This record gives sequence, structure tokens and C-alpha cells, in this order.
Amino acid sequence: MNKPTEFETIEGLRNIEQMRTRGLDRIGVEQYISEDFYQEELDTIWRKCWLWAGRAADIPNAGDYFVFDLPFLNNTSIIVIRGKDDKIRGFYNACQHRGGRLAYYEKGSCKSMTCTFHGWVFDLEGNLADVPEAEVYGELDHSKLGLKQVSVDTWGGWVFVNLDPEPRWTLAEYLAPLPGPLAGFLEQDSWKPAMGRKGIFKCNWKLQIDSQAEGIHAPFLHGRSIMGGFEMEDVPEWAYPGSPGVTYKFEVHRPDTAEGPGYFRSPLAEAVGRYSTATYYNTDSDEWRAQQQKFPGAVNQSDAERWAFDGYGIFPNTVIMVQGDHILVMRSWPRGVGETLWDYTQYYTTEPTNFGEQMARQHGLLEMRNTITEDMTTVEGLYDSYKSGAITELVISEAELGVAAYQTHIINMVKELKD
Ligand code: FES
Ligand SMILES: [Fe+2]
Repeated sequence: MNKPTEFETIEGLRNIEQMRTRGLDRIGVEQYISEDFYQEELDTIWRKCWLWAGRAADIPNAGDYFVFDLPFLNNTSIIVIRGKDDKIRGFYNACQHRGGRLAYYEKGSCKSMTCTFHGWVFDLEGNLADVPEAEVYGELDHSKLGLKQVSVDTWGGWVFVNLDPEPRWTLAEYLAPLPGPLAGFLEQDSWKPAMGRKGIFKCNWKLQIDSQAEGIHAPFLHGRSIMGGFEMEDVPEWAYPGSPGVTYKFEVHRPDTAEGPGYFRSPLAEAVGRYSTATYYNTDSDEWRAQQQKFPGAVNQSDAERWAFDGYGIFPNTVIMVQGDHILVMRSWPRGVGETLWDYTQYYTTEPTNFGEQMARQHGLLEMRNTITEDMTTVEGLYDSYKSGAITELVISEAELGVAAYQTHIINMVKELKD
């Protein structure tokens, strides 16, 4: 199999003996349940890493903005706004007079940011532009009273926010293992959200990422919903120990059974397969061929004949799954050491063109919803088991390399980012 990127530096890491040598075959539960460790995560990872925030295409014009709230970081609220120079910037949603909130809505458009409290005006680049009744303030140094800025950059048309005004890595460095052509694929203007859901779970936030970091659970947890059938070689996985922002990649290939007669070759499965990441993409379809020609190298880097989709763990809290004409973005947001908000959104580049396609898409969306619901049925039980002391160490197989890579990276990054 081809190497997906230059970051795949450890040959055969998906090998239990190799993993054992590196201590990747066991994970202690402390990092999931410790209040102290959670505080350290907030102070390091969450304040110094790039966070997947939204789509640049959602704020196409100067003055368009969305609000990116991080309530678990002392109620931090960030305005992500496009300037007159077309650059996207991020500012604390706080007026520099007495801290009035500038934006009250999730998104909107403005000519300048005006505080509703006493009317101070900030331009789209965050500079203090106007102070009503200026004389009552005495001397004001406008150059020191601009909005407090955070770092913002884009990759593949997606906006990332880093609360650190001087991030340790550029976004490009952070995401380096992602294939370059994937940026073009993700940047298409035609992406439209088709279904999104949110839910609050009584578990540590990292458990939700774990739930998407391996495929060995699929034949069991998803045995009824997507009919199982996987062998482990259908879900190859890579870890990127040298990368700050991409922890693992997996590919899902259609199982052998999909090649023969039976469920996976049924017309329904073929139709639904085009619209759901949970099932198996019909690689013979016209849509798939068109996508391959448009963005060579964006997906299926191992050039697998039975390729279905790719998944990436984007540190710290995001998992994306990339298929021929749709993507799934899943994120986990802590609300405390033992409570998490989980959100996911499915985006498509195409619209169904007839009733059959519409039905197949609806079926595909529901299949994905059901699969993710199944994933989420596990997380609270896992957390309780860790918290109660019923289990103190997790046994990790080579098929769970993604979990090991991710949890190890958590510990390494907390250490590395401590001042
Ligand atoms: S707090 Fe914003 S103008 Fe007073
Ligand atoms: Fe799953």
C-alpha cells in the first residue's frame, strides 16, 4: 500500500508488537476523568491549538461574520469577520470600553461593529473607529483600544481559530499530513449542509473522538445498521506522531462481500451508498469518476479498488470523513471534565436530481444518523466505567491505533504546550 503522506514515517506501526514497544497498547483512564488534567487541557490544548470553526463561504462578503463561542474557556466568545481587504480575522466579542458584547447573534453582516452599550464603533479590521461624546473620555489612544485579536486562518475553505495570537504552528504546518489536493476538494463553493445534529453527553470529550478512531467496533456496534461484513484489512489506519494537528487517518474499503451477489450489490444499497458515509460508495458510479478526475489525489491515496471513504482525526476535537461527493464533520466540545457537546454536520456538493435520488439521500442521511447514534450509546457507559474504578487501563489492539495515537498525542501536547 502506498504511503499516504511523508508523515507516515513509522513503517508497520499498525502492528501490536511495535505498538507494545512504544507503549501504545495500553491507555490509563486518568486522562479521561481527572479534573486537574482537564484544567491542564483547557490551558494548553484548547488555548493554543487550531480549532475547526466554520466555513469561509458562509461569510463571503466584507462585514459578514459568525460568532464562535467557547463557553468552557471562561465564556470566551469570538467574532470571526471578513474585512474590507477580504481577510478573515477573529476578535474577542468584547468592546474595549467596558466589555460590552458586540455581536448577539450567531451570524450576521455589518458595516462596522458597534457596541450597543455606549456606541463605540470598531471597523471590520478591529480598530476603534469612533467614540460618541469623545470629549468626556479625555485623551484616548485609539491605537491601544482596538479589539483584542486571536489568530484565524483557512485551509480548504474552512476557517480555523487559534486563541493564541502567536500560534506555535502556522495552520499549514499544523495540517501538513492532509493531502494537498484535499484542500481543493474541500474548498468547492457548492458544499451545502444537508443534516446536522447536536447532543449533550455525560462523558469526557475525548471519548467521542475515540469512538471515531477505529473500525473494529463496526461489525458489532453497527452490525444491524450497516450490516457489518468488515475485515480489519478493510479499514487500514495510519498515525502521524510527528504532526501537531493530524493524529490519524483511516480508509474504509468495501468488504469483499460487496463484490459478490448479496446485500451490498442490491440496487438500494448502490443508491443509498452514494449518499451515506456509513455504507459503501459505489466506485463504479459516474459521480465518483467525475470527482476523481476533478481532484486527483484528494482521496483514496492508497488507490484501493474498493475504496469507500477516508477519515481524519484533526486535533484536538474534530473528525472528518470524506467521500466522493460529501463530507461529514464531527466535533466534540467539553462542558466540564464529564460533560460534552457533540455536533456533526453532513455536507454535499450536489443536489438530488430526481425522486429516487432524493429518497436515497434521505435514507443515507438517516443511516448516518443511526450509526452515529449507535456510537454515542457507548460513551456515557465508558465514562462511568472509568470514573467508578471498574477499569483503570484500556487494552488497545493494533486495530485501535487511532485511539492510541490520539490519546498519546493529548498527553504529549499538554506537556509541550505548558509554558
Ligand atoms: S461597553 Fe461598549 S461602548 Fe461602552
Ligand atoms: Fe462507529
